[in-house]
Amino acid sequence: MRVLVVSDIHSNWVALSSIQEEFDYCLCVGDLVDYGTEPLPCIEWIKAHATACVRGNHDHAVAQRVEAKGSTGFRKLACATRPLHWELLDRVKMKYLARLPISQQITIEGVTFYLVHGTPRDPLDEYLGDNEAAWTARLQGINASFICVGHTHIPFHLNLGDKQVINPGSVGQPRDGDPRISYAIVEDGKVTLKRQEYDIQAAIRQMETAGLSGETLEMASSVLLNGRMTS
Ligand SMILES: [Fe+2]
Repeated sequence: MRVLVVSDIHSNWVALSSIQEEFDYCLCVGDLVDYGTEPLPCIEWIKAHATACVRGNHDHAVAQRVEAKGSTGFRKLACATRPLHWELLDRVKMKYLARLPISQQITIEGVTFYLVHGTPRDPLDEYLGDNEAAWTARLQGINASFICVGHTHIPFHLNLGDKQVINPGSVGQPRDGDPRISYAIVEDGKVTLKRQEYDIQAAIRQMETAGLSGETLEMASSVLLNGRMTS
């Protein structure tokens, strides 16, 4: 059984469509949308291929029509791309995002996975990196072999004895200084964090075609090219 785990796609279809893995099942840990400019095929792909998908904070904000606020960094980028999502997404797609579960436990071929975007304590918003003690505390009462999380855009894998925590990193907007697509494969109980190059210039051209320009386009391009926010 080969499971592809993806997260934080952020409307970057060029990245998502570049993943060339064979898989039996796909699990998605949220943030399909925002920041990028091609939400439709990303949502369609997840609808078609993911066995389970949970809601990220950005899926929630787009679905609930929360206006993005902020004049710097990622908030500024969300201010530019969120209204575009509202133009592109029809009622069916908005409803799909709104109805994604906050967390989900799923058993596949006898193996139990627990999916949450942030942490069980704060499913949409808590940022928690590879802190073993903190994850051990957060996972009290969760009975699953693999806990799949996202949100930080930084991949890690923790082995906590009877539980393994997997953050596959971000497909569409890595933030660990490595601009390549990040995802995880779980095969026969073994977790592998993987990276793959993709055509970042094509992703930037798509954002320009979709209407991003000036400082916003520069910022979005810089994040994709550098794998982090540089200013
Ligand atoms: Fe995200």
